Amino acid sequence: MLDHWVVAKFGGTSVSSRENWHTIMGVCHRHLEAGRRPMIVCSALAGVSDSLEELIDKAPRGEHKPILKRIGDVHRELAANLEVNADTLIGPLFDELERLSRGAHLVGEVTPRLHARMMAVGELMATRLGAAFLSANGVSTQWQDAREYLVAEGGPLLNARQRYLSASCCYDAGGEMRAKCEALSGRVIVTQGFIASTASGDTVLLGRGGSDTSAAYFAAMLDAERLEIWTDVPGMFTANPHIVPSARLLKSLDYDEAQEITSMGAKVLHPRCLQPVRDSNIPIEIRCTNEPGIVGTVISADAPEINAQVKAVSTNTNVTVILMETLGMWQQVGFLADVFACFKKYGLSIDLVSTSETNVTVSLDNLANAMDTAILEALTAELECFSTVRRIDSCASVSLVGRDIRTILHRITPALVFFEEIPVHMVSQAANDLNVTFVIDQEHAARLVEHIHRELFENIRNPVVLGRTWEDIFDKEDPEDPLSGGGRWWIERREELVALAEEESPLFVYDEETLRGAAARLLAMNSPDRVFYAVKANWHPGILQIFHELGLGFECVSPGEIEHVFSLFPDIAPRRILFTPNFAPRAEYELAFERGGWVTLDNLYPLEQWPDVFAHRDIFVRIDPGRGRGHHDFVKTGGKQSKFGISLDLVDRLVELASRNETRIVGLHAHTGSGILSTGNWKETAGILASLLDRLPDVKALDLGGGFGVVEKPGQSPLDLVVVDAGLAEAKAAFPNVEIWIEPGRYLTAPAGVLLARVTQVKTKDDFHYVGIDTGMNTLIRPALYGAYHEIVNLSKWGSKKRISANIVGPICESGDVLGHERRIAAVDEGDVILIGTAGAYGRAMSSEYNRRLPAAEVMLPPRRG
Ligand code: LLP
Repeated sequence: MLDHWVVAKFGGTSVSSRENWHTIMGVCHRHLEAGRRPMIVCSALAGVSDSLEELIDKAPRGEHKPILKRIGDVHRELAANLEVNADTLIGPLFDELERLSRGAHLVGEVTPRLHARMMAVGELMATRLGAAFLSANGVSTQWQDAREYLVAEGGPLLNARQRYLSASCCYDAGGEMRAKCEALSGRVIVTQGFIASTASGDTVLLGRGGSDTSAAYFAAMLDAERLEIWTDVPGMFTANPHIVPSARLLKSLDYDEAQEITSMGAKVLHPRCLQPVRDSNIPIEIRCTNEPGIVGTVISADAPEINAQVKAVSTNTNVTVILMETLGMWQQVGFLADVFACFKKYGLSIDLVSTSETNVTVSLDNLANAMDTAILEALTAELECFSTVRRIDSCASVSLVGRDIRTILHRITPALVFFEEIPVHMVSQAANDLNVTFVIDQEHAARLVEHIHRELFENIRNPVVLGRTWEDIFDKEDPEDPLSGGGRWWIERREELVALAEEESPLFVYDEETLRGAAARLLAMNSPDRVFYAVKANWHPGILQIFHELGLGFECVSPGEIEHVFSLFPDIAPRRILFTPNFAPRAEYELAFERGGWVTLDNLYPLEQWPDVFAHRDIFVRIDPGRGRGHHDFVKTGGKQSKFGISLDLVDRLVELASRNETRIVGLHAHTGSGILSTGNWKETAGILASLLDRLPDVKALDLGGGFGVVEKPGQSPLDLVVVDAGLAEAKAAFPNVEIWIEPGRYLTAPAGVLLARVTQVKTKDDFHYVGIDTGMNTLIRPALYGAYHEIVNLSKWGSKKRISANIVGPICESGDVLGHERRIAAVDEGDVILIGTAGAYGRAMSSEYNRRLPAAEVMLPPRRG
């Protein structure tokens, strides 16, 4: 009967310690007990391949000795830990490496052939030590030289570099290999990844990441039951976890998706290793050597069918973009052929291509192409014969990967706001409909990945393919305080807050110092002449009192808000009130004029239908700047789809109507949206409004609206008011006689408010934890309405290391009553006080009595004494 085989590949870190070799031994035992014969394929020890490359670089100059010593020390140290004899096991290999280095020094160069021989020593030494350790511990082990089994495919077109340094091998199932291995007496075979031989016996390499490919060849040739890739992470994640700690484990993928994710930059698996196993329909399991209990990503033909979904945001940071511009390309036959021939000549494989009539832009993966400056320069020189060449080094590609990606592109719309600020060199949509890729400057890649990941995965509801988050698996603490602008004032006052909530819950608490701090920052800006607080964000009397004292005006959108302000401050100067309604009835405008506030009109209808209300009056007019911005579509208030403002092409009609009624337009207003973190927004609005000044000579003020965003979640950068101010200063300089007004809401109140609630019940259902609290969307509707993110912590257990991932839910009878999805918080007990951050704006203001549950009450926290 034929043996059942499993091939398990262990990467550099996985073979570098005694502990990990114990894990490898455990894996061997498990397979042997289950009746499977394991073939263990190993990489060189961690860091050794890099050292060998350095050796290859420096040996021709005679600088090899210290590097050789380093390589020897690393192996001797592991041998000592494994209690095996370094001298007998690796002595001869090390001597050979020394000889080869001396040879390189003598001839002053390292040929690709020599390069391959020197690199191979790393894998050979690692496997010698490991095999001896397994044998010494009673595992029936047989060391084998991979070069006896893996033979490189030759090819007349291959240059020496390709032949020796990035070879491919034949991997027919049912060949001799299986029979040979079955005949070996050792039950476990230990062999090397990365290396193979030519038909004539020369050593060749499979290219970087080639150990995965070796293992896949072996799996195919042995017709293995499965291929296990053991590495330092338990699988592929929805993004690089070092960039996005909340990235989720991908539990299952099909070969196409895995191919795409790995090709687009995920380092867990080398993309080349997929083809051999896919041809033989062998599943791949990715496992973590440090967490051997976790079943990681499984790649197979049987991945569950689910609707189109973005599976991962991959990034590749070693990308060069080459732009080739020619005027002669217009309808010219063969230009592309000429261009591509040059790349072929230098053995460079192109990743992405985009063409226009006069330009071809391509991206190259520097690592995959084993590219160096000399090659690039030679290529550029050649391309310059028929085009103007521009090269952009240090680029990165950021790809969204998933099946049928075109059908779900709309979901990334919010993430595209990012491109307002950074240039995109290329956009490409793969013909196989599995990825959409943006090529940008490398320095922005991490931020873009975070941004897109947040939009796509943050509030996703437990789909079958997504597992735990990386930070959950490795129980990493939250990153350092990401919330600036006083957003985490509550850390220092947490004991007071817990006591307050134990008295009364749920409860909004507002911090006076934070309110004052936000107002002070806005008032410190030089360009705005007047700041009106947008009362709709939060009309708590204590808050309005503070802003009143500080001299802010009040932007109101209803008679209710106007009367509220007058009832609190009966003596307020009426011109500190600005009325900015939308589709309001006639009587509301009459009331506002009567009260003496500024009135803003955002439609021509009132001027046409109720001219008497506006005759001989001074008014502001709200203009639609043509585009909206904001944290969600629902809060963007510009552009064709928006109900706000008068479009720019109706301004002539506006002028005519106004002059007919002797209505003076003394101010222009525009508000693009809410929760904006791009500094250019207000300057741009000012420019648009200023372009109308020629036609509106009475205008004395430009009101640029609110929208000033605050940091709500990790990864966001705070709005830099200094930059905003500088932008506005340019507008002021151009129009010195026109004032600038602003009307912020969120910026003034969001960070100052927290919502406290207490845990009612917990539940675990299908592996998902739910933490119930005593209020929900009736108090804070923003997560349900906009998918808004509010930081959530267990204040009663502050600092506790025991953490869980849970959906934080309210008591309302709606599935959308979730305040935070898959949040990591300290493990809860009934009655614990949960804090929900940045809840000072549009929290209580938007709450309801839905389900006849009263929303949270409010208190103002006085400044601390002393
Ligand atoms: N001015 C006008 C004309 C507005 O419509 C608004 C907000 C503001 C100023 C103040 O915007 P802020 O600075 O607060 O961004 N409920 C949403 C926000 C809606 C904002 C409506 N208008 C949320 O919870 O995110």
